[in-house]
Amino acid sequence: MRDFFRRIRDSVFRVGWPEDERRALMAMRSSFLLHIHAAKVRPASLRATATWGLGLLSLFLFGSLVITGVYLMFYYVPHPDAAWRSMKDLAFVVPFGVVTRNLHRWGAHAMVALVLLHMGRVFLTGGYKAPREANWVAGVLLAILTLGLSFTGYLLPWDQLAYWAVTVGSKMVASVPGLGPPAALLLLGDHTVGEAALLRFYVLHCVVLPLAVAGLVAFHLYRVRKDGGLVTSEHAPAPAEGPRLLPAWPHLIYRELALLGGLVVALLLLSMVVDAPLEPQADPTRTPNPAKAPWYFLGIQELAHYSAFWGGVFIPAATIGVLLVLPYVDRHDQGLGRYWPKERRTANSVFLLIAAFFVTETVIGTFFRGPAWALMWWPG
Ligand code: HEM
Repeated sequence: MRDFFRRIRDSVFRVGWPEDERRALMAMRSSFLLHIHAAKVRPASLRATATWGLGLLSLFLFGSLVITGVYLMFYYVPHPDAAWRSMKDLAFVVPFGVVTRNLHRWGAHAMVALVLLHMGRVFLTGGYKAPREANWVAGVLLAILTLGLSFTGYLLPWDQLAYWAVTVGSKMVASVPGLGPPAALLLLGDHTVGEAALLRFYVLHCVVLPLAVAGLVAFHLYRVRKDGGLVTSEHAPAPAEGPRLLPAWPHLIYRELALLGGLVVALLLLSMVVDAPLEPQADPTRTPNPAKAPWYFLGIQELAHYSAFWGGVFIPAATIGVLLVLPYVDRHDQGLGRYWPKERRTANSVFLLIAAFFVTETVIGTFFRGPAWALMWWPG
C-alpha cells in the first residue's frame, strides 16, 4: 500500500520530494505549476510588505470563484420565471447550497477590493514603470474585467436588489453620449432589464468574462516572470553574489500556501456566519427609493448625481485613460520598490488623494444617501 502511494507521489514530483536544494531547484523547473516562479528569488521579494500577497490572493479568489460558480451553475436557471426560485432552492434542496452561494458572493466582493488594492500597491511602489508597462496595461484591463464579472453576476439572483442595481448601472452606460445607448442595448438585448438581459449577463458571467480573465491572468503572470520578477528596492545581485538568492522552494512556496490556507479559513468562517442577501423577487413595477448601483459603482453614481456627463462619464473615462498611458509618460526610474521614497512623493501623494476622493464618494453614496438621493446625516 505504501508503495502504491509512493508511486503516486513520485508521478507528481518527478524529481522526488524536494528535500535538498538541488531537488528543490529541479522541482521548480520541472513542475507545470511551480515553474511560473523563478527557481531562486530575491530575499526582498519574500517580505510580506513587498506585495501584501494581494496579487496572489486575487488569483486564489478567482480560482475559488470558478469552483463555487461551477457548482452553482448545476442548479441555476437563467430565466426570469425560474432564477429567483433556484436561489431559494439553494437553501432547501441543494447540499451546501447556501454556504457555496455565500462563498461565491463574499469571494466576489473580496476580489474586487483586493484587485483594486493590488493596483494601489503596484502604483505606490512604481511597479508600472519600464519594463513592466505592458503588464500594467494588462492589469488595468483585468481590473475592468473584474468589475464586469462582478456586475454581470449581480443580476443573476433576480431579486429587487439585483434588478434595480443593474437597471441603475445600465442607465449609467446609456448616459454616455454617442456610444452609450447602443452599448446599453447590446448589453441588455432590450431597452429595459428583462429576459434577454438575464441570458446575456449569464453568458457573459459564466463563459465570456471568466475566459477573458483566465487568458489575461496567464499573460500577466508570464510577464511578471519575464519582466524580472517583482519590483523591489533591492536589485538583482551580480552572478558572483549568487548565494544572496534563496530557493523558491520552500521559502516562497510555503509562504504562498500559508496565504492560501488563511484565505480559505477566513472566507469559510465568513460564509458560515453571514448569509448573502436575497430580497423579494425582482418586480419591474416597484422601484426602490433610492435605487443604488453595486458598491464599487456607487462613487460614480454619486458623481453622476452632480453632473451626468462630467461625473458619470468624463471622470471615469479620463481615470481609465490616464491609467493606461501612465507608464508611457512617467519614465523616471528612481525610488522603485519602496512605498514612500522621496523621489516618488509627489506622484504617490496625487495617487493617494485621487484614491481618497473615490473612496469618500463611495462611502457617501453607500451610507449617506437616502430616498431621492438626499443626504442623510446618519448612515442608512
Ligand atoms: C485578476 C486580477 C489580478 C491578478 C490575479 C493579479 C496577479 C498578480 C500577481 C500574482 C502578481 C505577482 C505578486 C504580487 O504582486 O502580488 C502581480 C504583479 C503585478 N500586477 Fe497584478 N494581478 C491582477 C490585477 C492587476 C491590476 C488591476 C494591475 C494594475 C493596474 C496589476 C499590475 C501588476 C503589475 C505591474 C505587477 C508586477 C508588479 C511588480 O513587479 O511589483 N495587476 N499580479
